[in-house]
This record gives sequence, C-alpha cells and structure tokens, in this order.
Amino acid sequence: MTKIILDCDPGHDDALAMMMAIASPKIELAAVTSSAGNQTPEKTLNNAMRLLTLMKRQDIPVAGGNKTPLVKPLATAGNVHGKSGLDGAELPEPDFKVQDMTAIELMAKTIKESDEKMTLVVTGPMTNAALFLRVYPELAERIERIVFMGGAMGLGNWTPSVEFNIFVDPEAAKIVLNSGIPLTMAPLNVTHQAQILKPEIAAIDDIKNPVAHAFYGLLNFFEIYHEAPKWGFKGAPLHDPCTIAWLIDPEMFESETMNVDVETQGELTKGETVCDYYELTGKPKNTEVLLGIDRDKFIQLIRESLKTFG
Ligand code: BDR
Ligand code: CA
Repeated sequence: MTKIILDCDPGHDDALAMMMAIASPKIELAAVTSSAGNQTPEKTLNNAMRLLTLMKRQDIPVAGGNKTPLVKPLATAGNVHGKSGLDGAELPEPDFKVQDMTAIELMAKTIKESDEKMTLVVTGPMTNAALFLRVYPELAERIERIVFMGGAMGLGNWTPSVEFNIFVDPEAAKIVLNSGIPLTMAPLNVTHQAQILKPEIAAIDDIKNPVAHAFYGLLNFFEIYHEAPKWGFKGAPLHDPCTIAWLIDPEMFESETMNVDVETQGELTKGETVCDYYELTGKPKNTEVLLGIDRDKFIQLIRESLKTFG
C-alpha cells in the first residue's frame, strides 16, 4: 500500500488521476492539496472538493495552495479545461469543509502524523511542493518519492520546448528537481502515448454509475481541444493519470533514470526540462523518466477503476 498526498490543479486529467487513486486498493489517498494552474486557485480548490463530493470521499482532507507561482504571474489553461477548469459534466457542489490551513500545512501535518514515509504526487505546477520543501526542510526525509507529471524530453505543449506545468512555475520545478528526493517524472513523451481514443471515451458511459457518467462528460470535453490536427492525436492524452498508473503498476511503463534539471533563464527555453539521457554532465541520476506505456493496459486500468464506483 502506497500512502500518497495528491497535489493537483483539477483539471480533467487531474480528476482522472484522483479517481484512480481513490479506486485503487494499492493506494491510500491521505490528503489532497490544490495548486493554481489549469484554472485560478479558487476554481481548482473548488474542483478538487467537487470531485471528492462526487466520489463520496469527503473524509479526505483538502487544503488550498499558493495563489500564484513563486516568481512568475499565474498562467491558466482555460482553453484546454474550460471556464470552470472542469467543463463538460455536472458535478455536485462541495458538501464538506476545506481544512482551515494552507496546502503546505496540510502536507506537513499529514506527513508528521504518518507512521511510514509518504509519496507526494504532483499533477500541476510545483509551487506547493517547492514551498513545502523550503518551509519544512526537516520533513524532506519523510518523503519516499515525488512522482510528477511535467516536462518533456525534447517536446513542448505550451511553447515549443516547454510543457504547461513547468511553464507555470519553472522556479518551483527547479527546487523540486534539485531536492535530492527520488523522483519519477511522467513527461509528454509518455503522456502523449497515453491516449484515450474516441470510441473508448464513448464506451465509458456503458459503465453505469454516476462517477463513470461524469467522467464520460469530462473526457468528451477534454478531447475537443486535442482534435486540432497539429497534435496528430487519435484521442486525448491522459497526462496526469500516468503518475497514479505508475504507482499501481510500474511494469506498465518503460523508463530510464537520468539527471533532469530545469532551465529558468533561457530566452526561448525558460521552463524546459533538460534531460541528460546520455550522461553528459556526470550529475546524479535524480529522476526515473517514464518513456513508454502499455496503452491497452492503461485504458483497462481506467475502466476497472471507474467500475469500482458502481
Ligand atoms: C499538464 O497540464 C495540464 O493542463 C494538465 O492537467 C497536465 O497536468 C499537461 O501539460
Ligand atoms: Ca494537471
């Protein structure tokens, strides 16, 4: 059983990651913290709580994160995730209270109260994770691993060389990547293989339960942005669920371990994850980088996860 804190900016694919974590008998979701990214901090917090209400897991503590990135002004992705950050489904309004503390305070409390080391899963910009490491450096050793969706090896989806989560807060990502904590990275190279195809989205509504129905609506909305021919997709790339899928079944992935750092100065490349695939720097191999996925197994896992809400 892996005990995790999920720091997310829901976000359609964040929502799926949360659902899979809740559904899995191999994962204990101990707390959820929200980050500013796909939408404003108010909206992503509300979305996290709406999702937990939908899945009847109001017992999981939730706290809202930092309002802005560490240095840059906030950029959001309403063009991908809609005005609410979770357009496409009617979700219930939250029927429980947010914790009376910040995201990093909830992270610290959860980690201190845990008998075992915890895994931090980050599926949005790394602002909260970086702040946590700066404010509570003594708790870093209580984190087993940070598993994150972000970055790419030679690709970008927000600028030619930069992925959205790292684009939003490159300085935070640099802190996390240089923290010395073992890291697993789900970059665009793998998440663009983790596509759900249109007929597979349609088939989700055959799983007759309210959670599957909500995800059917969410995925239909999320797929529209990815139809633009420039991407060359056959469906929608499910970025964030790769983190949880790796925790559940690492055998589903191919990976290489290497040094990864973040460019924070470049005129054209600020926010690029620099992956030392050929060991050119001699710097420590700080990151397991996921590069391949068994797509069929991944989609099967998503379907099985949704069925548990029946
Ligand atoms: C990442 O950006 C967000 O829009 C998604 O939720 C995902 O975390 C993909 O670049
Ligand atoms: Ca996300």
